[in-house]
Amino acid sequence: MSASNKSLVFVSEDLVFNLSNENVSYIFRVSPEGILEHIHFGGAIAPTHGLAAGPRREFRCTVLEFQGIKNYSLDDTPQEYPLFGTSDTRQPALHVVNSDGNSTNTFLYKSHEVVLDKPLLNGLPSARGNTLGNKGGDQKSNDSETLLLTLVDQTSELEVTLRYTIYADHDVIARSATIRNCGSKEVLLHNALSSSLDLPQSEYELVHLRGSWSREFEQERMDVPHGRFVIDSTRGTSSNAHNPFLAVLSRGADERKGDVYGTALMYSGNFAISVEKNEFESVRVSAGINPFNFQWRLQPEEEFVTPESLQVFSSEGLSGMSHVWHGFVNGMISPPQFDGVPRPTYLNSWEAAYFDVSHDVVLGLADKAKSLGVEMLVLDDGWFAGRDDDTSSLGDWFSDPKKFPNGVEETARLVKQKGLKFGLWFEPEMVNKESQLYRDHPDWLIHVPNRTLSTGRYQHTLDLSRTEVVDYLYARLDSFLSSGLIDYVKWDMNRVMTEVGSAGLPAERQLEVPHRYMLGLYSLVERITTKHPSVLFENCASGGNRFDLGMLRYMSQGWVSDMCDPIGRLSIINGASLLFPLSTLASYIGPVPNHQNGRQTSVKMRTEVGFFASARGLSLNEEDLNASEDEIKDAIKLYKASAQDMVDGDFSRIKYQDNEVCWQLISKDGRRVYVGYYHILSAPNLPYRRAKLVGLDSSAQYKLEHGNQVFGGDALMTLGIDLPYVDAMQHQDDTDYTNHLEKGDFTSRLIVLERT
Ligand code: GLA
Repeated sequence: MSASNKSLVFVSEDLVFNLSNENVSYIFRVSPEGILEHIHFGGAIAPTHGLAAGPRREFRCTVLEFQGIKNYSLDDTPQEYPLFGTSDTRQPALHVVNSDGNSTNTFLYKSHEVVLDKPLLNGLPSARGNTLGNKGGDQKSNDSETLLLTLVDQTSELEVTLRYTIYADHDVIARSATIRNCGSKEVLLHNALSSSLDLPQSEYELVHLRGSWSREFEQERMDVPHGRFVIDSTRGTSSNAHNPFLAVLSRGADERKGDVYGTALMYSGNFAISVEKNEFESVRVSAGINPFNFQWRLQPEEEFVTPESLQVFSSEGLSGMSHVWHGFVNGMISPPQFDGVPRPTYLNSWEAAYFDVSHDVVLGLADKAKSLGVEMLVLDDGWFAGRDDDTSSLGDWFSDPKKFPNGVEETARLVKQKGLKFGLWFEPEMVNKESQLYRDHPDWLIHVPNRTLSTGRYQHTLDLSRTEVVDYLYARLDSFLSSGLIDYVKWDMNRVMTEVGSAGLPAERQLEVPHRYMLGLYSLVERITTKHPSVLFENCASGGNRFDLGMLRYMSQGWVSDMCDPIGRLSIINGASLLFPLSTLASYIGPVPNHQNGRQTSVKMRTEVGFFASARGLSLNEEDLNASEDEIKDAIKLYKASAQDMVDGDFSRIKYQDNEVCWQLISKDGRRVYVGYYHILSAPNLPYRRAKLVGLDSSAQYKLEHGNQVFGGDALMTLGIDLPYVDAMQHQDDTDYTNHLEKGDFTSRLIVLERT
């Protein structure tokens, strides 16, 4: 084998492709027949080394032989981009109805090319190829290399180009495909996935993130069953029901050990990720746009680009996988101008005033924010023309003249004069029928003519597959942001799609609407965030209803959930952290009893759970703020002092069981370690418990911030740190005994260690 002189992608003379960095390899080959056969994704294998195992061709009496080739069946051959109709009966990556009405295709190798860096996807979010910012793939660097591999189907004259990017410093393979119609007749795409990965026969489990409003990101784990297990969305958003992420694990893998294969899509619309185990125990992980209710007409010379799929391998369990995702999201996906930039603390008007905002209310909140040490005032819903409750006005993005006689901009100017930053809420993609926009353009919403439309929160989705709608929204947002007075935008989206149809497309293209909507949305957010790069955008969708890597490409942070009760939030952050770094998470200290679940918790507990996020603040009314003024001032002080560490520190899940949760964050310079310990229901006389910390310097010493004790890094990692506990005999005023938790349910302790 003669390796090419590229440093990350190696191609042998007999067309074995080895994409390797120091930790992982992704290997496949072109079979003598021209089929792309998958060989390996996992620990690194040097390109010059012989491969101990590859696809096998042995006699089985039961299988079909591909094109009559002896002992060669695609049904038990691991492949890269499998097709339907020629002996593979599993989930295909591509399903096309050809111009003659049949759907049998065989794509064979045509050519390949290796390029430095990573070409960006046209019209879709994609990860960067280098750390220097988004240079449109022109940047020449060794951070990544991309293999472009073209396959062709002789009969239909369709071509597919598969893209594989490997990174020097991230154990991630980025994949996508372009399907090109090189023939003279239209073809129909029924399914065009982004990636397909065949894993070697083994015992596997899988983990994914399921949920609902205010219960987002719950981890679900199960054995990989025979048949197909699918998580998907048909709602027009990636949705809170299933995040577009799934990991397959070697059986028994835990937070620290075991092989983990993670897949996440950079897509915010209808998606599907499936895991299929067939009778030969081959396991196929497929990811892409949901094939259900999808069809795309591809005219001659047109091409269709799939969203990007990201694949991670770690042999160090779930935490190992999460660390890879966290580094990659920060370095290669989130807007580079906010990478490592601490986020301001804020006071949000929502739970403080709901729709009863006005110039005076906002200035009053701004004074209060200032006196508490808060850095930004966010004006949430209720500020635009006629918006007194949630039944009207979405779409009319003009200041309400009653509430803001001189415009929101004037209020913003005065807030900024007080030395605060100013943020504003929009829900651009929505319209109420009770609005001027709807009266002017009744056909601008997603709808099916002659059918009664379902409502969600009294609102409807605007048809972003139409460029005139995108242009209108761009102009309205731009007019506010161009004032230069807005530092932060909370971009909300509070309903999913039903009765999906567009007045802008002919009947035969109606099934293209959901994906065309996403292309419109991405073009809108791309334009507006590019025009206003210094504005910090937060992606919100009733909480985590569209919290995905696609939106994170444009918006540095997301409102992970409306659930601000700290107990409700524990599982949400624990689950979200599988994929998302703290830099992307926003939180606030909300009111009690909590408005979603009625639970009563202390300011301390709310502060210490909300601590593990980058954008942290308050959503409390003046009365609540006054009642806990000192504690809130301390919370803001703590948040400000740790702001840098939240955007570039290293987060780990330590414990999530037995009524206890423990998380850890190490600052980038390794000098500070934050350990959050949360005890849910109180019980007396529990066993003494410890938490073993991870990732410390074993030769260093760490001192408790409040106290004199000093521990070795090795001791903290192998022996662990004592966790506080509830003593039945403890007196309420027994404050000296710092290792006791106060009595009662819902208690917490934030332990800060400093490296000496
Ligand atoms: C959604 C958001 C909330 C708030 C309201 C305003 O529910 O998740 O934080 O902004 O909308 O209507």
